[in-house]
Amino acid sequence: KKVVLAYSGGLDTSIILKWIQQEYDCKVITLTADLGQQEELEGLDEKALATGASKAYIEDLKEEFVGDFVFPMMRAAAIYEGRYLLGTSIARPLIAKRLVEIAREEGAQAIAHGATGKGNDQVRFELTAAALAPELKVIAPWREWNLRSRTDLHDFAQKHGIPIPMSKRNVYSMDRNMLHCSFEGGELEDPAEEPGPMSHCTTTPLDQTPDTPEYVVIGFEAGNPVSVNGEALTPARLLEKANEIAGRHGVGRIDMVENRFVGMKSRGVYETPGGTLLYHAKRDLEGICLDREVMHLRDSLVPRYADCVYNGFWYSPEREALQAFTDTAQKNVTGTVRCKLFKGGVYAIERTSPYSLYDMDLATFEEDEVYNQKDAAGFIKLQSLRLRAYMKYANKPLKD
Ligand code: ARG
Ligand code: SIN
Repeated sequence: KKVVLAYSGGLDTSIILKWIQQEYDCKVITLTADLGQQEELEGLDEKALATGASKAYIEDLKEEFVGDFVFPMMRAAAIYEGRYLLGTSIARPLIAKRLVEIAREEGAQAIAHGATGKGNDQVRFELTAAALAPELKVIAPWREWNLRSRTDLHDFAQKHGIPIPMSKRNVYSMDRNMLHCSFEGGELEDPAEEPGPMSHCTTTPLDQTPDTPEYVVIGFEAGNPVSVNGEALTPARLLEKANEIAGRHGVGRIDMVENRFVGMKSRGVYETPGGTLLYHAKRDLEGICLDREVMHLRDSLVPRYADCVYNGFWYSPEREALQAFTDTAQKNVTGTVRCKLFKGGVYAIERTSPYSLYDMDLATFEEDEVYNQKDAAGFIKLQSLRLRAYMKYANKPLKD
């Protein structure tokens, strides 16, 4: 019997590795996916093997993550509850997909993950697994074992010779990848309390950002960012660069209470510097490239698309249908946007596109030949027909 486990090398997944091996009396194969979390991955395979894994995969999935997951999502302008750019959510289907692929190659019967039974991540991993490989069983130790506290976990680790990291420095539940870094727990559990100084990772605190603005030009093709300051970059390299530039100006940090799919509200601090810069730059470019009705229709679908990602329905007929619409709508979103970054703000200041629908002759306040102002009178008159009918009764209560 074999199980493929998503393994970070940290205390929790090390304990999980050992626990599964004992509880299920099976071989455990680990997958450590490099999505740009900037942790030391070297030696994690030896660590997994030393903890009892029968085989350990370490894979660099950064280009696939950004090219096939982050960028398609950004083409849709996805944003959850008006603020969250879905940095954790979008990583889960890729990790689950790789777990499933490895399980098939290795002839494993199950996959396993270290998400708790109270969060969104378990749902995302498992809906992906169900969509891609319904025959595989899923093991979620947090929902199964009777280790009830941090002390129980430490006792278990000690008993099995799993090293316990000494630093108690980090009180947060964190998740990091190329798109974002998240903090939950600790003092953040009280929404009335200000986030502490340690809840920072990829954005510079605003009192330490440069006192002069920085300008950056993002090039887009069909809704995808393709260059930074004129330099063409692969998806992962581009996002890296965008993070670096936006991060030093403190761009893309949010503090919000959101609605988890499983029902409770939860408070998180999320840093998405590059993603925030690209989001605002593209929205600005859409101002000249997108037809009004297409844009408004797309905007009405943003919450639906975001729900698909947040709730774990990446591999679903509705997300795929929304993607098809999005990609058609984005085919002319090509051009460049120049942005100014300053003290946490990102301001688009110049935009150009070969597909611009903006017509200076039409928009001008100067004299023009293409628009007859007299036409507007009839337009307004017909638009007001229903308002006149409505107001006739609205201001006069009907007598009984
Ligand atoms: N609340 C965010 C989300 O559901 C972030 C979750 C962070 N996950 C984690 N394992 N620390 O997408
Ligand atoms: C977890 O519960 O494992 C992390 C938080 C979440 O998934 O929402």
